[in-house]
Amino acid sequence: MKTPVGVLISGSGTNLAALLDSTQDPHFPAEIAVVISNKEAAYGLQRAREAGVPAVFASHRGWPSREAYDAHLVEILRAHRVEWVCLAGFMRIVTPVLIEGMQGKVLNIHPSLLPAFPGLHAQRQALEHGVKIAGATVHLVDAGLDSGPIIEQASVPVLPDDDLDALQARILTVEHQIYPRALRRAVLGELQPTTR
Ligand code: GRF
Repeated sequence: MKTPVGVLISGSGTNLAALLDSTQDPHFPAEIAVVISNKEAAYGLQRAREAGVPAVFASHRGWPSREAYDAHLVEILRAHRVEWVCLAGFMRIVTPVLIEGMQGKVLNIHPSLLPAFPGLHAQRQALEHGVKIAGATVHLVDAGLDSGPIIEQASVPVLPDDDLDALQARILTVEHQIYPRALRRAVLGELQPTTR
């Protein structure tokens, strides 16, 4: 039986698309049980619907605290029997209410070689620092910002003529490779994260 996974998004959802593609393979050990977006217009919600996956808009507005919103997310995830959560371009800081509510089974993807360039605009930070190698990281989520144990990484070169769009696109191609790989290892209980 496939492990039910929830994917949290805020935007275009190209990582969601990569996860949907991988999980539709009958041999992949997980399936996407629900996609939740805090933005109603997120294109990822449409991708989910087209794939026949429940797509839920859950606004972060109107809640008394981040914790109250996260408790609402946990309710939705539990209602869909989710065991693992993938944050995929979910532009909210999550609290221990979500992490502990899902027994720590929460992954995130970040467009840098962590621990370099956590937080917003990682690709722009990479360009501004003039790094020659950039990349992406999948990590377990803890209470810090992009700081949990690293599960998968992949690097890409930064080319002399790169602008932000070119670098973002090159990093996205490896994001789409490492996220399904990390999820597969996670649901199979094969994680041996680096502890820092
Ligand atoms: C990706 O670059 C991801 O690493 C970051 O947000 C972006 C989401 O892109 N956390 P998409 O919505 O999956 O296309």
